[in-house]
Amino acid sequence: MKKRIGILTSGGDCPGLNCVIRAVVSHATLTFNWEILGIPYATQGLLERQTMPLNMHGWDLRGIDPLVNMGGTILGTINKGDTLAHADEILASYEALALDALIAIGGDGSLNIIHQLANLGNWNLVAIPKTIDNDVALTERAIGFDTAVNTIVDALNRLTFTAASHDRVMIVEVMGRTAGHLALQSGIAGGADVILIPELPYTIRGLCEHLAQLRNRWQRKFAIIVVAEGASHCSEDLDNTASCTSPKCGRGQYIAEQIASCSNNQIDTRVSVLGHIQRGGIPSALDRLTATVFGKTAIDLIAQEKYGQMLAWQNGKAVPVPISEVVTHSPALVDSHGDLVQVAHSLGIYVGG
Ligand code: F6P
Repeated sequence: MKKRIGILTSGGDCPGLNCVIRAVVSHATLTFNWEILGIPYATQGLLERQTMPLNMHGWDLRGIDPLVNMGGTILGTINKGDTLAHADEILASYEALALDALIAIGGDGSLNIIHQLANLGNWNLVAIPKTIDNDVALTERAIGFDTAVNTIVDALNRLTFTAASHDRVMIVEVMGRTAGHLALQSGIAGGADVILIPELPYTIRGLCEHLAQLRNRWQRKFAIIVVAEGASHCSEDLDNTASCTSPKCGRGQYIAEQIASCSNNQIDTRVSVLGHIQRGGIPSALDRLTATVFGKTAIDLIAQEKYGQMLAWQNGKAVPVPISEVVTHSPALVDSHGDLVQVAHSLGIYVGG
């Protein structure tokens, strides 16, 4: 029977989403001759019953498929809104669009909402994890994470030379929400001296002692600090002198003030907030590959009528795991006693404590 499959991207965009769409459309069309309908702007598109016909012929005039290396999502996305308030209308849309199944590409927040809708409406749902935060449970990789790590490492490479030239401490604030995967992995790969993440509270005293040791013991006059936007400090620092305490003041700026205070303004700091640069750009080869395997396998799951599953990357391949388990265990945070934290310790990187 010819199937009609909806596909949507939900939550913050990231590189690699278009690669999933490409794989889904190619495999569904070439292997099964199914119809793929793009749903723009995630649940908003469902609510408004908007669709975008997707087919194999999105090549440009020279025959190049732009979806392989295009960042963002051609479907558009949203990461806000009280979707469940409109649940009845959204459920009715799934019926009205006569969908046989829906592929949802999202992070833990979006998957949670779509999973609830799918349960209410008895949808045939297959999910694919994406997020630069890499905090979706049960999968080693979410699409977009690898590209974001590479983007941060590129920034650290550049900042290291200017830091060394001016004997400065460069503070680089990165995304990740409540998870420190981005900061930890990019910090290790990019040669950071300090990595501050939400899962491992740091103290200003520990941080300042580390910077002093770098200068006095190792004659390293510059340093690179990677700080996650959600990094938390110990309560002993709460009665500090920093003026930067409002929620609008980022973690990077806060740390700069703390370093100025503990060094009597002897340490020259500069803050770079990488922000949405981390979400942009063309996808890395690894993200393209993961996205392509996930997209192809999602179609295979639908062919087997195996629903309520998210594709997870485990031990080198894409395997289905129940979405209900994923949402129960997300967000997946950095294991503060895990291998990567031990690696950081062994390199003499200050990671809190
Ligand atoms: O979840 C992805 C993410 O980029 C987080 O790392 C960050 O905190 C958040 O989204 C930013 O969201 P927005 O694009 O709404 O500013």
